[in-house]
Amino acid sequence: MDVLVVGDANPDLVLRGDVRPRFGQAEQLLTGADLVLGGSAAITAAGCARLGLSTSLLTAIGDDVFGDITRERLTERGVALILPRTATGLPTGLSVILNPADDDRAILTLPGTIPTLRPEDITDEHLAGTRHLHVASLYLQPQLAAGLAGVFERARALGVGTSLDTNFDPTEKWESIADILRHTDVFLPNATELRAVTGEQDIDKAAAKLVAAGTTVVMKNGAAGARAWWPGDESSAPGLAVEVVDTTGAGDSFNAGFLAARLTGLSVGEAIRWAAVAGSLSTRAAGGTAAQPTRQELNPAAAA
Ligand SMILES: Nc1ncnc2c1ncn2[C@@H]1O[C@H](COP(=O)(O)OP(=O)(O)O)[C@@H](O)[C@H]1O
Ligand SMILES: [Mg+2]
Repeated sequence: MDVLVVGDANPDLVLRGDVRPRFGQAEQLLTGADLVLGGSAAITAAGCARLGLSTSLLTAIGDDVFGDITRERLTERGVALILPRTATGLPTGLSVILNPADDDRAILTLPGTIPTLRPEDITDEHLAGTRHLHVASLYLQPQLAAGLAGVFERARALGVGTSLDTNFDPTEKWESIADILRHTDVFLPNATELRAVTGEQDIDKAAAKLVAAGTTVVMKNGAAGARAWWPGDESSAPGLAVEVVDTTGAGDSFNAGFLAARLTGLSVGEAIRWAAVAGSLSTRAAGGTAAQPTRQELNPAAAA
């Protein structure tokens, strides 16, 4: 495999229109509703597969209808599933995403099986079968986080690259992940996450702290695109102006673009260009995966 993605997979119910709930039994009419593949790890894995990487996803889903939908959608996209436990008695996770007309959104998440992944679920056999290991949604998975530094260390000893996208911490405690970042080749936060994880408000100083420990920092910056810092240099890449339908999962599609470029042998500077375009193109449709680009769409010149 080119890449093993580890983390959350669940359906997303995306609701559009007049979605700011009014209580008191008010009924509001929506303009759109889609049940789509969600979970940052799942969206990243689907994006990697669409970009031509042979991709597996290690995830925890339950033995229920949402688990079945999740499995089907991933299989359709050519992602090989590794499911350590399905009969935990816990329901598959679910997110309900409220998308008003502006580009804000609210997300309600039932964790279900999502927090049940454990470090020992990532075996040496899994690591030996991949070039790269990417972990998503760390703060939704405290059991995995507790032993991830050791997993990343083992991975690197086997010559497997490591990357991490923590995503937001719903507890907003932002517990230290310094031990994990020491073994992380590429950290992929947005600006909020970069500040929170480092405890440093100034973006450049925050990145510099991590780069000093040898980690490449790739920061997603919404419509503005991305910035990257690595030992000895830095770079930025613009987003594409697109007609945005839904930004759910844009950061995860961005990650897929970055990994595809790097695993193709491109530089970090080139990889953030691919990543920013992949993120932007993914916003053209509802949900995280429907509008994810192919390699041809990302880089028509090279593919021709
Ligand atoms: N409104 C937008 N217009 C164009 N591109 C966007 C927009 N929002 C996000 N993107 C693209 O998706 C990438 C990731 O989105 P961002 O919102 O920064 O990440 P996250 O979802 O992790 O917070 C951006 O770097 C950019 O390339
Ligand atoms: Mg994100």
